[in-house]
Amino acid sequence: MAAPDKKMLAELTKLRTEINRHNRLYYVDDNPAIPDAEYDRLFDRLLEIERQFPELVTPDSPSQRVGAPVSKKFETVQHRVPMLSLQKVTSEDEFEQFDRRVREGLETTGEIEYVTEPKLDGLAVELVYEQGLFVLGSTRGDGKSGENITVNLRTLETVPLSLSEETAKRYPLLEVRGEVIIRKSAFARLNDTLEADNLPPLANPRNAAAGSLRQLDSSVTASRPLMFYAYGISDTDPESLDRHQRVMELLRHEGFLINDLIAPTTGTEGVGRAFETLQSAREQLDYEIDGMVVKVDRFAQQTILGQISRAPRWAVAWKFAAETAQTVVEQIEFSVGRTGVITPVVQLEPVRVSGVTVTHASLHNEDELRRLDVRPGDTVTVRRAGDVIPEVVDVDKAKRSTNTKAVKMPIQCPSCRGSITRTEGEAAHRCLNPACLAQLERRLFHFASKSGFDIEGLGGKLARQLIDKELVRNPADLFFLTKEQLLPLDLMAEKKAQNLLNAIDHSRATPLPHLIYALGIPGVGEAAAGLLAGQFETFERFENIPVEELTAVNGIGPTIAAGIEDFLANEGNQSMLKRMREGGVQFPVFQSPAATGKLAGKTFVITGTLSQPRGYFKNLIEEHGGKVASAVSAKTDYLLGGADAGSKLAKARKLGTTIIDEFGLEQLLNNTNN
Ligand code: IVH
Repeated sequence: MAAPDKKMLAELTKLRTEINRHNRLYYVDDNPAIPDAEYDRLFDRLLEIERQFPELVTPDSPSQRVGAPVSKKFETVQHRVPMLSLQKVTSEDEFEQFDRRVREGLETTGEIEYVTEPKLDGLAVELVYEQGLFVLGSTRGDGKSGENITVNLRTLETVPLSLSEETAKRYPLLEVRGEVIIRKSAFARLNDTLEADNLPPLANPRNAAAGSLRQLDSSVTASRPLMFYAYGISDTDPESLDRHQRVMELLRHEGFLINDLIAPTTGTEGVGRAFETLQSAREQLDYEIDGMVVKVDRFAQQTILGQISRAPRWAVAWKFAAETAQTVVEQIEFSVGRTGVITPVVQLEPVRVSGVTVTHASLHNEDELRRLDVRPGDTVTVRRAGDVIPEVVDVDKAKRSTNTKAVKMPIQCPSCRGSITRTEGEAAHRCLNPACLAQLERRLFHFASKSGFDIEGLGGKLARQLIDKELVRNPADLFFLTKEQLLPLDLMAEKKAQNLLNAIDHSRATPLPHLIYALGIPGVGEAAAGLLAGQFETFERFENIPVEELTAVNGIGPTIAAGIEDFLANEGNQSMLKRMREGGVQFPVFQSPAATGKLAGKTFVITGTLSQPRGYFKNLIEEHGGKVASAVSAKTDYLLGGADAGSKLAKARKLGTTIIDEFGLEQLLNNTNN
């Protein structure tokens, strides 16, 4: 085969540079300089030369964005520096509190220099560049490790495959972080194409971005209009860059797409103004955002502030208030909750609210039903606040037809036909029939839920059948089920029945906080159940506690205490608890993480420079039951050492203490045997 001549080599280099330049003009600057056909001609010529001389193909050639083999699953990759989440605020007051904490942390009364950025609603990813080459791309995952999606990220024109020589030299390792999104307009077009191909449409741009990025066949990803917006790097103080703004400039210079609404400002007033501006621009933007991220600009200050649990103290997400939309009421139904509360629920013509399709909304209670006077056929405004159940906030009475009547609360339970009452002083109507099947079904769900007994496989249809066939009349009956009883049920085979019995058996040892939560005591959610378990340590003590002692527990108010008292005094509940004991439920003694965590009983000393402030590692160790001491002694089990560890390291060596680095700590935490 002929060797490439000098002219061809020069042409190849020129082609790549040109194609990269046009990619950038088209995708990043939104300012194409040549017609598409001209671009295709350049690209075809590049492919032609590379086909002729395969040895000339480089990993950062624009031709290498597609064509990776289909993978079976994604590998897991550890993030060298964890990808944190953000604290949230939802009002000016809350932002001012954040600002106060920042100023206290920095011991200053002056105004803080902040950078404000749109909070893009997509998928967080990390791109690793080694010696200037894109070598690894991953999803955020749980913040510590994510999925290796390098081949998919390569297909995004907004992901530079290589950096400038100068930057590669200055930062031999650069980890760039940002959000992958699909623009609203591109999303609409994508759904049109999917529908034309008889494929199901995607729910919203965020889901579309996440789904497109996690394709095992990267050619599917390549066909999706994904964009990567960079918003930071993993290190807070890269050499010679003193501010977040400088990093953004560097990344922009390297060809990354940087959001053009990112701007510096000072103090709470400046941030407040930026928030107003962003909020009013929101509708017009061609991408979805759910708030504004505010970051302390100076890295020196970021370092001083450090982080708490999994979020930095130097940044915050100021979220927009819930979004609203208009739609039409199809009908009004009444649902029965696990404590018998009857809630009016409106069925709606499906409508999209903050990126999610809403089909029903709660009216909470009779007072709300009356106040709003919602009727079938009405045009209403619904609101969604985060993950909270959507609600009706307003009725457009002008649009109402003349022949409608106000809807009243039912006098009979829609499930058991039992009578419904409204207790004095309470907003709720309740079905008082303890044997009401709708209530039982809800109670059973709650009992078996993840935060309760965590019985996998006890989903919708099965719970209903167990009740209908009278195999379960109260959650404690679960512990008496036999395979013979299960096998005749619909969709139940030998294996499934055995799995369910195994899950039930396993759940007999449910830890105390989960057990208390599962009982469904009014007002006792996960947090209160945790507090009670921690305070009383055994179920027997909790059961026999006088109300005064209950209210003395920090976080348990008089209403919850009264709820607990009523629950425990109820004969039905007493016999349920008795039957749970007879069924082999263990009611274990409360175990704090200090006794059960992977690092339980181990003492650590931290020294040297680590990838995160020491507080981060201290939290991590304590979360897993370990202790952190300040000086090395014979009692120290592990010395966690970073760079430039000094006298503590020497002492640990002398005492024969086990010395580990961050990786070693990670291993201790991942090791299931200790
Ligand atoms: S900074 C420690 N900047 O918000 C800094 N995050 O809760 C953490 N996000 O999933 C991230 N836009 O992907 C940052 N301009 C922005 C962002 C942003 C969206 C997402 C991020 C993460 C979540 C943090």
